[in-house]
Amino acid sequence: MLWFQAILSNNVLLAWVVEQSQGSVANEVDSGFVACDVEQHQKCHQFFGGHLFAGFLGRYERGQHVVAKMLASILDDGGEIGNQFLIIIEDRRKHLGDDMLSSLITAEESGEQMTTEELMAFLVLLYIAGHETTVNLIGNGTLALLNNPSQQDIVRQTGLQPQHIDELLRFDGPVQHTVRIPLKEAHYTVGDTTHTVQPGTMVLTSLGAANHDSSMFADPHTLRLDRDNSHRHMAFASGIHYCLGSALAKLETEVAVGSLFTRFKNIIIEGEPTWRDRITIRGVNQLKLTFS
Ligand code: HEM
Repeated sequence: MLWFQAILSNNVLLAWVVEQSQGSVANEVDSGFVACDVEQHQKCHQFFGGHLFAGFLGRYERGQHVVAKMLASILDDGGEIGNQFLIIIEDRRKHLGDDMLSSLITAEESGEQMTTEELMAFLVLLYIAGHETTVNLIGNGTLALLNNPSQQDIVRQTGLQPQHIDELLRFDGPVQHTVRIPLKEAHYTVGDTTHTVQPGTMVLTSLGAANHDSSMFADPHTLRLDRDNSHRHMAFASGIHYCLGSALAKLETEVAVGSLFTRFKNIIIEGEPTWRDRITIRGVNQLKLTFS
């Protein structure tokens, strides 16, 4: 049923993102900045994630509480995510709204609808694929701009433009690898040598290396927001599994990072940022800032 999920979710997710871009995400993030000080950065993180994900599931008060609880349980002890999603799905079936989950529940393709198990699997996938990744783009992107004052100035003048976000994704994307297993013999050529990959072989593709390939990007280790081909990055992979949430990730980053640099004139890194010790997801674990 993967084709079914892909068709439904792509349209539904995109429609939701377009609607959100008309204001409410921006307002929530902006008021989040006002509400949170530096000491409260953990709460801030939960606030953004909880509110945005609650928007997917339904803009109703009970939904927001359930999601906040769910996020807290995941953060605390790896919690009962499946059960919580089940509760939300059943609730949405009874009280349909104008949110993405309601659209997924009612959508039909050739007379078929998604089962509860499919809905649950999809929500878990969306949560995991969508939360950790975007958080790290916001962290890495902020750090990249702070380390490059001339580029930071551009954002202060123009706001964070879509082209800038592509460059942040290229320069230091949160997902460094994907895995592929070819079903039939595959060939690729580097220089004069052609390599053969046998069916069933696990291939680790390095998105980060592709994004710093000097034959594609001139001066690849330099952050250049005006780069004319930064949209050719591989940070969202490519092909049939191209990231489903790319538009939402860009919207969240535009609002979070853009608002930070246009709202605060002085942003200073306190101490050395620490990095996650994961191989696939790359991101700062802790980035302490003071701003005024
Ligand atoms: C900066 C943020 C993000 C990055 C860098 C990112 C990156 C990626 C990458 C590289 C893949 C391909 C995985 C593969 O080929 O094996 C992918 C797939 C996916 N992403 Fe994202 N992602 C981000 C945000 C999001 C968000 C916000 C959502 C949803 C709310 C999302 C949902 C998905 C889903 C569902 C897939 C699987 C698509 C499929 O297999 O057909 N992602 N993402």
